[in-house]
Amino acid sequence: MATAPVSMEKLVSLCKRRGFVFQSSEIYGGFNGVWDYGPLGVELRNNIKAAWWKDFVHRREDVVGLDSGILASPRVWEAIGHVEHFTDPLVECRNCNSRFRADQIDLNKNCPTCGKKDWTDIRQFNTMFKTHVGPVEDTASIAYLRPETCQAIFTNFKLVQGATRKKLPFGIAQIGKAFRNEITTGNFIFRLRELEQMELEYFVRPGEAERWFNYWLEHDLSWLASLGVRRSMLHLYEHPETERAFYSARTIDIEYDFPFGRGELWGLANRTDYDLTKHTKSSGEELEYFDDETKEHLVPYVVEPSVGVDRMMLVALLEAYDEQPDKEGIRTVLHLHPRLAPVKAAVLPLVRKDEGLVKKARTIYDELRAELPVQYDETSTVGRRYRRQDEIGTPWCVTVDGQTLEDGTVTIRDRDSMEQGRFPADEVLSELQRRLRQPWTRPE
Ligand code: GAP
Repeated sequence: MATAPVSMEKLVSLCKRRGFVFQSSEIYGGFNGVWDYGPLGVELRNNIKAAWWKDFVHRREDVVGLDSGILASPRVWEAIGHVEHFTDPLVECRNCNSRFRADQIDLNKNCPTCGKKDWTDIRQFNTMFKTHVGPVEDTASIAYLRPETCQAIFTNFKLVQGATRKKLPFGIAQIGKAFRNEITTGNFIFRLRELEQMELEYFVRPGEAERWFNYWLEHDLSWLASLGVRRSMLHLYEHPETERAFYSARTIDIEYDFPFGRGELWGLANRTDYDLTKHTKSSGEELEYFDDETKEHLVPYVVEPSVGVDRMMLVALLEAYDEQPDKEGIRTVLHLHPRLAPVKAAVLPLVRKDEGLVKKARTIYDELRAELPVQYDETSTVGRRYRRQDEIGTPWCVTVDGQTLEDGTVTIRDRDSMEQGRFPADEVLSELQRRLRQPWTRPE
């Protein structure tokens, strides 16, 4: 497949046209930093989340899940320092009032919006969204929308450990929405104000944190590779001490070469015992671990791999997007891993006018639909229908033709190789399920 950089314009246009991603509130002129996911987008996101959950939770003995509230006691954010420190440096142009993140532009240069150079001083802007809980809007009723999903994992640490009796090392995972009032948003679904995270807090003995840090780095990279993300597109950025978040002893970002430049896809941090210790001090509840065998009380260290669903979706789409010249022009195809593909198969009767073919195709469609997300399409030529499915990443097309009525077989066409093979119609479901279980490699 072609490896030329994909233009964001083309991807954004496909995402809108085919129902993956829509701009929020488009009929009202849009709403910055929020995107809505259409019928195919929600399937792709659900598949990304399911793949992560399967590989980071279900397939492991040492990780359990949590689904906590988006709202929590404001004391959580005070204790952890977010009310004071969850900030970005803000600078404003006095001439046109445009606002920028001071660490993302060169203040020796002129304002990129109006071309003048008249900057305000830099001030720290807290990016947590505030709201009020209950009918009275006063300082006592202030609450925050969580800016990261992990804090409830720390506040529930003892309850989860008590309920599951997990022994160190073990992890607690969570997938959910988080909110950040980013100063600048943009690059499609890269930087959002409403985002979703997949976070794992992995609790270890303090002396073992470095070893587990390296383990999770390798694990995250292999997971990306298993979904077809090219290693050559990924880069590791180790934060120097001056750049690290206040809670972290070591941070590595897994960065991706996006069409608009290199950017963070996945953060990996050694959060030490910072969070558990802070919540212990603030709540009075000892968030520690008691080792039955050594009779030792200890506060575990935490290694945290954290990735955004939206950024993972963007990377999956960018890695999958391909354009191949063919007889009819250009074949646009999404080489999505079959695990991630929103639609697993399409059932196509070769000709719409043939009642026998349509009836048989609908019977196969009904049988498949009970088990897998599949589509039925009988409009236009079969070539066009293949192209439509290629464009949304459907790995297989099942075609019902004249021979089906004679010998009961159908063809299964593969999206990547475009090869077709014949299979008995009553074996299509098991054949698709077999293919879905098989490892997939990205076509070269
Ligand atoms: N609990 C640690 C934490 O939240 P982070 O590096 O701020 O760390 C983790 O965020 C991941 O969440 C990032 O690597 C990115 O994938 C995603 N993310 C963070 N801010 C985002 C935003 N404004 N829009 C989209 N995704 C974002």
